[in-house]
Amino acid sequence: MFERRDVWKLGSEADPWDPIIRWYARAITALKGRAQKNPTSWRYLAAVHGTFMQRSDWPQGVTWNECQHSSWFFLPWHRIYLHYFERIVRRTIVDLGGPDDWALPYWDYSDPQRPNARSLPRAFREPQMPSGDPNPLFVSERSQQNPDIIDGGRLDALDVEIGDAIAETSFTGPSDDGIAGFGGPITDWNHSGGPVGSLERTPHGNVHIGVGGFQPLGLMSRFETAALDPIFWLHHSNIDRLWEAWLVQVDPDRQNPRRARWRDASFTVGQGAPAVTLTVREVLDTTQPPLNYTYSDVSVPALAPGMVLAARSDVESVFTEEGPVSEDEELVPEMVGASENRVPLAAEPTEVEVAVETPSGPALREGAEGAQPRKVYLKVENVRGKELVAPSYLVYVNLPLRADPADYEDRRAGQVPMFGVLEASESDEEHSGSGLTFSFDITGVVQRLREAGDWDPQRLRVTFTPARVGAERGGDVSAGRVSLYYA
Ligand code: C2O
Repeated sequence: MFERRDVWKLGSEADPWDPIIRWYARAITALKGRAQKNPTSWRYLAAVHGTFMQRSDWPQGVTWNECQHSSWFFLPWHRIYLHYFERIVRRTIVDLGGPDDWALPYWDYSDPQRPNARSLPRAFREPQMPSGDPNPLFVSERSQQNPDIIDGGRLDALDVEIGDAIAETSFTGPSDDGIAGFGGPITDWNHSGGPVGSLERTPHGNVHIGVGGFQPLGLMSRFETAALDPIFWLHHSNIDRLWEAWLVQVDPDRQNPRRARWRDASFTVGQGAPAVTLTVREVLDTTQPPLNYTYSDVSVPALAPGMVLAARSDVESVFTEEGPVSEDEELVPEMVGASENRVPLAAEPTEVEVAVETPSGPALREGAEGAQPRKVYLKVENVRGKELVAPSYLVYVNLPLRADPADYEDRRAGQVPMFGVLEASESDEEHSGSGLTFSFDITGVVQRLREAGDWDPQRLRVTFTPARVGAERGGDVSAGRVSLYYA
């Protein structure tokens, strides 16, 4: 059994070169020396995730641009990808005379008790190794301001929030209607574009842009270059760990999808002798072959009060007396309102009004106060653009006019990070061009608004606030529409 350990507990600021990190660096130097068409080379590995190279220029037989995003395959595909990578690194370390039990560490940036851990560990920030050789864990194409990641700056606390994702009660949405759940929406093979699952959104997407930066876009900020930054693999090791962490939440019970369409899906990474072909079913228990790994810790840090008021938090069924919504029960969300025009996501806050109607379909249920939905979802649909002006946006519901959003954290629906927006705005063979869609379960927010007397069943106001703004203005990101769903 291999143990994946917390990188911040390896080495120290004074002496960052723990053997696990040192062997990782040495292996990367070896991988970088291999030709790109070699399936165990650094550049081949990164291209499996994404590449700017035209398909017609690809070496024969490669399967590149494969990463699964905006999909319920996001988590299992990246797990298989990391397994392929980890085996290659371990084999390389053994060939270099190192230990045979090396496992990929993880970067746990979300513990509020350890704000230091929001910085990159020092071994990833030093341009040189102690020997004076260039350090392969260092890359210069990382955020240099706001946050100054390259110089030891910390990710923003908002970027690493895990409360909303962990609070999700189901892996995928209640229907095929673009409501994504914890792990992503029900899709076929999907490289880019469409609804984004909660974990893929935050912290995953925020951390990508937080590390890579957005003016200019560093390696971590694009699908096509992300895996060229050695921290990518530790970030995904943590995302994979958070999947495990989510599953052990028991109240209510969290479960992986049971559908064969998910469990029997099969993915191949690499080609030739090192290739792996695995079904989702085969990677659900990490302690079994062929994976054979555990995480040293899958507990979720206690969330500081006020750090997150998860929109759905303790609320299962706020409007009716019926019990929790089970996974087998098909909730069919019905759209009850939508904005009329595209909504700019700019350097300034944007506000949009949505007229809301009474549902007419299954969302109409008899409760104590008449027809009330059991779940309320806010959707920010088809977010597209070619140039970013902010790394992410905070989304608020019914923020009073001219109010300081910081005073109304309990009205925050969630975040819209920009990772993947550029990819999803291109239309070519791999990309649909229709942008990303974000869905938020705002049942709890709506309940609080009702209690505060600030809920108007006929009108909704949604505010988008850029989390940080770049020095250069410009940018052309917008959402196709903002809509409200009842289920
Ligand atoms: Cu396939 Cu974090 O990206």
